[in-house]
Amino acid sequence: MTPVADSGQTFVTGLTGAIGGTPLIELTRISAESPFRTFAKLEGDNPGGSIKDRVALQMVRDGIRSGRIVPGRSVLIESSSGNLGIGLAHMCAYYGIKFICVVDPRSNAQNIAIMRALGAEVEVVTQTDPATGEYLPARIARVRELAATIPNGFWTDQYSNPLNARAHHTTMREIAEAAPGPVDLLFCAASSCGTLRGCADYIRAHDLPTRIVAVDAVGSVIFGQPAGPRLIPGHGAALRPKLYRDDLADEVVHVDDTECVVGCRQLARREAILAGGSSGAVVAALDQLRDRIPPGATCVLILPDRGERYLDTIYSDAWVNAHFGDISHLWKQADVEVASC
Ligand SMILES: Cc1ncc(COP(=O)(O)O)c(C=O)c1O
Repeated sequence: MTPVADSGQTFVTGLTGAIGGTPLIELTRISAESPFRTFAKLEGDNPGGSIKDRVALQMVRDGIRSGRIVPGRSVLIESSSGNLGIGLAHMCAYYGIKFICVVDPRSNAQNIAIMRALGAEVEVVTQTDPATGEYLPARIARVRELAATIPNGFWTDQYSNPLNARAHHTTMREIAEAAPGPVDLLFCAASSCGTLRGCADYIRAHDLPTRIVAVDAVGSVIFGQPAGPRLIPGHGAALRPKLYRDDLADEVVHVDDTECVVGCRQLARREAILAGGSSGAVVAALDQLRDRIPPGATCVLILPDRGERYLDTIYSDAWVNAHFGDISHLWKQADVEVASC
């Protein structure tokens, strides 16, 4: 956020001014006994509730400036499981642009309601792609069809749009500026690879010593693992995105759905941070590498979104029991440790 001082008052102009500038906070509980420091970048503090607000702003504002998007005339079309859709719905409402978001049945009903409340049209693809059995290729096929047939249709194409990565130069710049010293390890969840690539490009361009740990889902194909079923949306992808590059990450950690839930619940119980599924994955990745992190190191976890939209899944005991059995001992232990802090 870039506040503007005027007559002693500090404010930003319009919703776009409130995107970015999210807090970096030190986590004092989940790594209490570790010889390294851990910080979290709270991207859920963006107005649309996720890191994707940065991408929506970058793609729409750049499109308007270059004349490829014309408010009142263009129709924006995008495939999103929720967060980018919500970010674009905000931007399109703000700039007066019609927006059609293509989702699938795994998308959260509340996300769809939010987009509709902001004036977006939401189309739900109900059939998976016959070749892969996945929704993502089916969603993209539908987006291509709409972009080709709707007059002035414009596909923002988050999976190959370089502006998706460009938006995260500021994410990494903010982290580097706010951290108490050089960041040794950056833990970053991957789906379109926009965050990963934007942070990697910034790190290399500024010759920072930061090593990147990419956090992917078990069952995602981004880093060459076999495709498999995944329950938790956000991180992971059924197709390798065009923004992917072999040199983006120094290390890759795969996290399964159970670890993801445990990571979220630990974050909520120990640090009082209610965050989304991929944030739990990032916490679980830190846990997997814990014994190899050098003493004195500074770790930064990017927490991509807020947890309120996961109350019926990750934070519902009934949902967790139905999918994983009773695993509550895996985070209840944390209560005992916090009580003794
Ligand atoms: C909750 C959440 N986590 C992680 C990601 C992955 O970010 P990226 O698409 O930049 O790889 C996304 C992307 O939509 C997301 O919504």
